[in-house]
Amino acid sequence: MAAESMAAASLTENMFDAAMGKLIVALDVPTAADARSIAKELDGSVGAFKIGLQLFTAEGPDLVREFVDSGKKIFLDLKFHDIPNTVAMASVEAVKMGVWMFNIHASGGSEMMARAVRDAKECAENNGIQMPLIIGVTVLTSSGTPGASDERAVEMARAAEQAGLNGVVASAYEAAAIRANAKSPGFVIVTPGVRPAGATNDDQARVMTPEAAIRAGADHIVVGRPILNSKNRAAAARAIIEEIAAALK
Ligand code: C5P
Repeated sequence: MAAESMAAASLTENMFDAAMGKLIVALDVPTAADARSIAKELDGSVGAFKIGLQLFTAEGPDLVREFVDSGKKIFLDLKFHDIPNTVAMASVEAVKMGVWMFNIHASGGSEMMARAVRDAKECAENNGIQMPLIIGVTVLTSSGTPGASDERAVEMARAAEQAGLNGVVASAYEAAAIRANAKSPGFVIVTPGVRPAGATNDDQARVMTPEAAIRAGADHIVVGRPILNSKNRAAAARAIIEEIAAALK
């Protein structure tokens, strides 16, 4: 292969990997068997998997540990929201599971967030575990109208950053405003409610395409049904990765 085309090929591969790292697939399925078979189908075409309320309620932490042990990056999406002590203790358990990322509700307040960060860090340090990213949930993407919740999301993101969280979950519609107001350039914005061009919105009220979401400032996008309901899930994931890559050029 000529040097030039080799460089082009490796650039494409790098771009693919960079874009793939931004895709989080929501394993919104009822059984471990479903989750395992989807994870197998998507091997090599996804950055991380999200285990949320449905799958966790059905299968519990064993499945999370199994996935973590097999080298998968797991975003534990349980949206903790309770008194500070309870959320801190739950956060410690999330650390012990070895997840890459987990979330808590920013509306739970500064003390709740700060205690979760403090106790999670202490547990990670004492046990030699990689500290997960802790992110705050701002405004759910199934509610509200585009643009209407910017101010509230920015306010919540600011409180989350002040409390020591690594980032937030927010609609792509708020991503730019949150990015502009974040103190740290490394503040992580995770965006659900993403729909490839031409796809159905399902119950998401505020949707954006993968390319637009990344351009708006999202670091990671969470995609569930557009991939899960596809006949060829790996192809659907790759098409989304290409849309993400378009925003990275
Ligand atoms: O199927 P769909 O792509 O809409 O899935 C989006 C995923 O992101 C779901 O697992 C949902 O729980 C999650 N999520 C969300 N809005 C948030 C936080 C998480 O839709 N604010």
